[in-house]
Amino acid sequence: MRRTEVPIHRPYLGQAELERIAAVLESRWLGSGPVTREFEDRVAALCGARNVVAVSSGTAALQLALHACGLEPGDEVILPSLTFVACSQAIVAAGGRPVYCDVELKTATIDVASAAERIGPRTRAIMPVHFGGFACDLDALLELGRTRGVRVVEDAAHAFGSSFRGSPLGSIGDVTCFSFDPIKNVTCGEGGAVVTADDELAGLVRRARGLGVDRDGWTRRDAHRPWHQEAVSFGLRAHMSDLNAAIGLAQLERLEELRSQRQALLRRYREGLATVEGVVPQQGDVDTVFPFLALVRVLDGRRDALLAHLESEGIRAWVHYLPNHLHQAFADPASSLPATERLFAELLSLPLYHELAEEDVDRIVEAVRAFFDA
Ligand SMILES: Cc1ncc(COP(=O)(O)O)c(C=O)c1O
Repeated sequence: MRRTEVPIHRPYLGQAELERIAAVLESRWLGSGPVTREFEDRVAALCGARNVVAVSSGTAALQLALHACGLEPGDEVILPSLTFVACSQAIVAAGGRPVYCDVELKTATIDVASAAERIGPRTRAIMPVHFGGFACDLDALLELGRTRGVRVVEDAAHAFGSSFRGSPLGSIGDVTCFSFDPIKNVTCGEGGAVVTADDELAGLVRRARGLGVDRDGWTRRDAHRPWHQEAVSFGLRAHMSDLNAAIGLAQLERLEELRSQRQALLRRYREGLATVEGVVPQQGDVDTVFPFLALVRVLDGRRDALLAHLESEGIRAWVHYLPNHLHQAFADPASSLPATERLFAELLSLPLYHELAEEDVDRIVEAVRAFFDA
């Protein structure tokens, strides 16, 4: 087997990140402080959001958002099974029970009718996932949430910088959760954010990210009795640090460049693959997305063989994801999720990252074509 020459993901980092990190190190304030505030303000401006609470990960963002929505033990949260297992873990950590619904074959995003069927007396929230960066049908989901009295907690871990009907994600729904982990389109090294127009919800998340203490270290530093850290409610140690925020700020300066490069690469994949029999790209409008994944469906049942073929060519492809209802920890044999199970057998993610050259995309497309021509 050849050495992997083309990885699946690769963060794009440079001098700007180094300079911002150096400034934080020199300041001797490494935890959550002024740089985290600045990051929150930049995210708020870019998303058109009223409140942004930066946290330590996308998983923590989901857990804290659900907690702030008032999830109680035994409450149910409906989510597509076709997602990263962080979603189910966040629900359980918040005291809830995941209830899995199906996705649409063409977009791999939540099937709203399937979610609606699963709403019951214990349903507290629906957690749609903007899969690969493509926005779900938020009109239908928010309407469903309003009419049935359940919160919509958007998992936008893949979708920072994407939009829906001309508005950035984070400016539309009740509460939106982002991830800035190492492989995301915009990375902080590790990090996440809860974004909401609801001031009370934002206040609850802000307090809960810092052990339930109502003043954080930065606010307390010059206050009377700065050592007085009194917990008033539940909390995790899940704040974002200034070191992480520094990386994120450098990344946000290049948001346009990062987004348009990924859009160009996704378009090139689509153009190249249009003449390859056997694969169909994920559907969605490239102009509105900051693409996280280059997803295709392999229609002839040979997805695993194609993955192995690409690997033998030094190209790392991936399967996103093992559906949550097929994990040992969340096994739910009663779930009937035909589209999810079909996509689990068909979906393949091709390499997508900023420094991927157009010639690399052409080479990957030719490797896929050669597989089907053989
Ligand atoms: C769909 C989805 N939700 C949530 C998460 C969790 O984000 P984080 O890795 O920042 O905890 C991820 C991370 O990959 C994800 O892909």
